Amino acid sequence: MAKKSIANVDLKGKRVLIRVDFNVPQDDKGAITDDRRIRMALPTIQHVLNNGGRVILMSHLGRPEGKDRNADARFTIEPAAKRLGELLGKPVKFSPEAVGPVAEKAVAELKDGEVLMLENVRFYEAEQIKDKNAKNDPALKEKKESFARQLAAFGDVYVNDAFGTCHRDNASMLTVPQQMTGKPKVVGFLVEKELKYLGDALNNPQRPFVAILGGKKVSDKIAVIEALLKKCDTVLIGGAMQYTFMLARGLKAGQSLVEPDKVDEAKRLLQLGGDKLKLPVDVVCAKELKPGIATTTVEGDIPDDLSGFDIGPKTVEEYKKIIAGAKTVAWNGPMGVFETPPFDKGTYAIAQALVEATARGAITVIGGGDSAAAIEKAGLSEKVSHVSTGGGASLEFMEGKPFKAVEILDEA
Ligand code: 3PG
Repeated sequence: MAKKSIANVDLKGKRVLIRVDFNVPQDDKGAITDDRRIRMALPTIQHVLNNGGRVILMSHLGRPEGKDRNADARFTIEPAAKRLGELLGKPVKFSPEAVGPVAEKAVAELKDGEVLMLENVRFYEAEQIKDKNAKNDPALKEKKESFARQLAAFGDVYVNDAFGTCHRDNASMLTVPQQMTGKPKVVGFLVEKELKYLGDALNNPQRPFVAILGGKKVSDKIAVIEALLKKCDTVLIGGAMQYTFMLARGLKAGQSLVEPDKVDEAKRLLQLGGDKLKLPVDVVCAKELKPGIATTTVEGDIPDDLSGFDIGPKTVEEYKKIIAGAKTVAWNGPMGVFETPPFDKGTYAIAQALVEATARGAITVIGGGDSAAAIEKAGLSEKVSHVSTGGGASLEFMEGKPFKAVEILDEA
């Protein structure tokens, strides 16, 4: 069932409490190195401002594990508030507390057309109390609910625009809307777009539907490979997880990163996938992972002194042909160690193949995390249908797991 959109709520004079995911990467000095998640939330924020509402933003940043900003200032969300102000072209007020008297005063003083960002909600232990732990512990339950009640009191409308956190039962994602009975609880434009592209690709794909899965570990991807084998016409495998699959096929993987305890799982997936599951036919290897190092391309066994770091050129050609014939493509996880050239070639060739597929009308969706970073680095993110802002969230969505934080919102 589709969820009610912020487009269909009266916002004039309303305090609009928006959960965003401004969990952005930062360098050692705290400077934001990729502001995509902030940029992607702009349409929702701008919409509230254009319609005479007041914006109150809550987000987490990193995992401070309940330590407050005095204990670990690295996790303050203030740099994200500043960056948002630059992008909006107007000042963003900042409350150094997410709840309590300082935050209450800041909310009370906020005027129509103004934006206030609350400090990192994960500076409060209550934010991350898991519902399964709170269920049998009344004190824990009350701690989470009382924190959520304080946040809920700040809003006349609740908006979830934090796709990257939709797989979590954090207080600001789930308990806050639970505490806002009788008030509108809706999706923002970003979550709406994510659910549409990822949802349509997975549940209503134009065929052929091809999934490309990379990344380091088979263990991280077992559930998603299994789910996609049921929905896709072809699943292409790349990344370091291919080396565990090599072991499962009786091949040698040299010094490559493998998960020996997952070889049986890999064998099971190979059996389950049959012809649908494609593995690389060649691998780019080297003695060590170093920029510009000499490489050897290997078909079959990898020699004992080498490690595989990327898919090889024959694999690229084969995968490109399959992608060229697809009408829907979903990609999650890089094909090699793209951060270290020359092992970026496979990932960038696949990114380019998706751009070409998009140009001839295919729907192309990129799950967040490393593959999103790769396509962004290649400057191609505007040339595919959709790049998700969710890492773990897009993976869990592809696995078909339900998101309680979305289920709780009003129906369209
Ligand atoms: C992410 O970066 O995947 C989201 O912001 C969620 O963060 P988390 O994994 O720390 O909950």
